[in-house]
Amino acid sequence: MEPLALYVHWPYCSRICPYCDFNVTRDRKQAGQRALFDAMLADLQRQAEGLGPRRLASVFFGGGTPSLLPPEWVAELIATASELFPLSGNIEITLEANPTDAEIARYEGFRVAGVNRLSLGVQALDDEALRFLGRNHSAQDAIRGIETAQTVFGRVSLDLIYALPGQTPEGWAAELRRAAALEVEHISPYQLTIEPTTAFGRAVRRGVWAPPDPELAEALYQTTQDTLGDLGFEAYEVSNHARGPAARSAHNVFIWEGVDYMGVGPGGHGRLTRGGVRYATVAEPDLKAYTAATDPIAATALSPQEAEEEALMLGLRLIDGVRWTRIPHLDREKADALITDGFLEQTRERLRATDKGRVVLDRLLLELLG
Ligand SMILES: C[S@@+](CC[C@H](N)C(=O)[O-])C[C@H]1O[C@@H](n2cnc3c(N)ncnc32)[C@H](O)[C@@H]1O
Ligand code: SF4
Repeated sequence: MEPLALYVHWPYCSRICPYCDFNVTRDRKQAGQRALFDAMLADLQRQAEGLGPRRLASVFFGGGTPSLLPPEWVAELIATASELFPLSGNIEITLEANPTDAEIARYEGFRVAGVNRLSLGVQALDDEALRFLGRNHSAQDAIRGIETAQTVFGRVSLDLIYALPGQTPEGWAAELRRAAALEVEHISPYQLTIEPTTAFGRAVRRGVWAPPDPELAEALYQTTQDTLGDLGFEAYEVSNHARGPAARSAHNVFIWEGVDYMGVGPGGHGRLTRGGVRYATVAEPDLKAYTAATDPIAATALSPQEAEEEALMLGLRLIDGVRWTRIPHLDREKADALITDGFLEQTRERLRATDKGRVVLDRLLLELLG
């Protein structure tokens, strides 16, 4: 039976971080939250119709801040999904959580609901950096969140943000070492992106502060690879490091490998194959409109060429690369030239970026697809 991954978007956050341009809304305990959740359950049921037999291989509760969800609602969603699809024996069920007191208190409830992997939004292990990032927790809270999560869940991942103004490679390496010393199995360090519509975007435009220049940003990226590599983490994807293959995020690997995934919740994206055609789906992003809609999903058929370009873009982010079977029309001459120059390498089954190639992935893709 074909595998299916499920992404569930919960858009509420206690506070909106100044760098974030995800589809988020301040949680003011709005009365409409349960109606939104009911609409998400209905959306899940509607999208499952006519999909054919699939086994559910992963669920990812993302956001927003899904750790603000009552654990009973999380259990309800998992129960609804399991009525629609048989669950894989080794299903991965991840929930993104913030390390504030109120949320830490709910971790056990999430485990009882069926969550078996927690992805903690730590962002920094340094109070000054956390203040700059506008977070509502301290480094000590984050450490307590990690330690609690480790007693509750078998699997814990941390998100960190780097390339903050004033950050040095030495300081960043020390922070990574502190994170690794907490014995988590997975770390996702993201380079700070200045999104134009955010408070950070406005501050940078006004010249209040500037992000690191490209050379320093590149040095910080290299520090990430070297430090985590030395600490036993494998960079199995550009921004994802795991202590061994079993610690990789199965959900993300499914998506990068081209497994179908269903996106539920306002603004959620998906890729679903129906009748031999792959569709890109996107849910209505406005919370009220999503809740009121009979069908909140817009689906666009991907041409075989679009599907292949996407396979290449996602697959080359993985250390394992992309299967040749997913890119049958690739321009072999261009690929061969990049192999000769040491940016790509090939095995019988796959085409992959070398370490040198992964640093300039965007340029490689332009070259291959241009
Ligand atoms: C959308 S958030 C959801 C997780 C959770 N609400 C939290 O704040 O920890 C997922 C991750 O995206 C990353 N992120 C969001 N905006 C970013 C940006 N502008 N630059 C780099 N990373 C970003 C953060 O590391 C965050 O943990
Ligand atoms: S980073 Fe997380 S908590 Fe902050 S606004 Fe974005 S989704 Fe919400």
